[in-house]
Amino acid sequence: MTTVLTEPSTQTLNTSEIPEAYRPKLTTFNQYLVDGELKTWNGKMAEVYSTIRTENKKGEMVPTLLGSVPDMESAPALEALESAKRAFDRGKGQWPTMRVRERLTCLERFADKMKLHREEIVKLLMWEIGKTLADSEKEFDRTVDYIYDTINAYKKLDQKSAKFEKEGDIHAHIRRSPLGVVLCLGPYNYPLNETFCLLIPAIVMGNTAVFKPAKHGVLLITPLLKAFQECFPPGVVNILFGRGRKIAQPIMKTGHVDVLALIGHSSSAVALQDEHPNKNRLRLVLGLEAKNPAVVLPDADLDNTVKECISGSLSYNGQRCTALKVLYVHESIIDEFNKKFSEAVDNLKYGLPWEKDAFLTPLPEPNKPQYIKDLIDDAIAKGAKIMNKKGGEMTENYTYPAVMYPVDDSMDLYHEEQFGPVVPVISYKDINEPLDAMAASDYGQQVSLFGRDVRKIGPLIDIMANLVCRVNLNSACQRGPDVYPFTGRKNSAVSTLSVYDALRSFSIRSFVASKNNPYNNEILENLLNSNESNFVSSDYIL
Ligand code: G3H
Repeated sequence: MTTVLTEPSTQTLNTSEIPEAYRPKLTTFNQYLVDGELKTWNGKMAEVYSTIRTENKKGEMVPTLLGSVPDMESAPALEALESAKRAFDRGKGQWPTMRVRERLTCLERFADKMKLHREEIVKLLMWEIGKTLADSEKEFDRTVDYIYDTINAYKKLDQKSAKFEKEGDIHAHIRRSPLGVVLCLGPYNYPLNETFCLLIPAIVMGNTAVFKPAKHGVLLITPLLKAFQECFPPGVVNILFGRGRKIAQPIMKTGHVDVLALIGHSSSAVALQDEHPNKNRLRLVLGLEAKNPAVVLPDADLDNTVKECISGSLSYNGQRCTALKVLYVHESIIDEFNKKFSEAVDNLKYGLPWEKDAFLTPLPEPNKPQYIKDLIDDAIAKGAKIMNKKGGEMTENYTYPAVMYPVDDSMDLYHEEQFGPVVPVISYKDINEPLDAMAASDYGQQVSLFGRDVRKIGPLIDIMANLVCRVNLNSACQRGPDVYPFTGRKNSAVSTLSVYDALRSFSIRSFVASKNNPYNNEILENLLNSNESNFVSSDYIL
């Protein structure tokens, strides 16, 4: 059954009701960055809408037009690829051979320029993807911090590499070298943070990149094109706008991409890999979907568990790859849990992103409310109930979070990564039930384990650590802090991201080896003293 949400802020929004600082400004952006040039796009444009509705001239409430961006075709995409290839120049380019110190200076300049656009980007995050003001600010600040942390991590890595080693009769100077051209594609839920967590380590290691923003959260990249142009040599960063199938597929088909860096769905990752004619050339850095479970043991502190399950399952409306997407609760506490959890869900404030205390906000994908409703209806038809009073109430851009119980494997909600505001709850009798479900799942990113008795928790941690990559004890799943490894098993990830691990993922160790004899040793010493090589160098960055 569908009823209509009653919060007034979601129903009528005259632009004059929006605080001035957050009113949208129509942005027509018809440029793209290739070969260090901001080129003008004269082709088709795509309009960008927010699902937040405002009044039009006729007094109707309609999705808000925010602006337009190029809807590009394969020709400029291939031009961008050529530009990235030229900048790498089969390893001879200025960027991949540059001293680390100089690359870091470029990145530092970029971070300084990026900070000047905070206000604009935060506002666009709220309008384009409906993220709350606080979370939008956090996304921006976290991204800037990530850049500075990357600079420091690379300095440390470089310090360790500024030396020769000797094993047996061979001297070796080992460094991490770039891989080549990176195609970088990010997700709509963290259009700034997650894309930059790929792009920044990729380029700083000496690779060159073609980058296309996600399907939502596109305008917010536009203020940064000039900064990219001014801070990096031509061709190091190329930025395109448009649909993946018109841009990414033709690029992959050429076989000239060395790394596919993508955060998104595994089906997109597989489709793009399939286009590449030389699979062993292609390295993968992928952050994919997940179905992270919470496992609640009988002795768990219920108040804390409910609090963590709320933030785990519903912060940013559940649109996080790390979100808790299924809750397994022991049968002895299921009734109490359902009662407390459902009440807590109904107490969450729904509002516009800039409204005080808004926790739930409009969904940026126009078809998402209906998709969530379909999941709810399918579960109801197969025996589940909506446990909370407001669950499933709909507007054009929202479905109020529904707590669904009891959920079983006959329901779509059990299998699909809902990535939205609906929370399936399953009760279990034997701990092997959730463990078997985790083992059978196609995903293996993280788990939240709630309980206290170490005799129970200890062995469970040992098993769970072999099924996922992070066991969160009495707390929600999350990616941060960004220095910790972020990865997953099975269909949830390929390779590891963190400030430090990303530098490794986007590079390969290569080294200069030389037999220990006077002839070679003299050459090595001369190399070190001459500054003729940026690779063979004992230069230290402090
Ligand atoms: O969408 C997946 C994100 O990596 C989640 O990051 O846990 O910091 O929200 P988060």
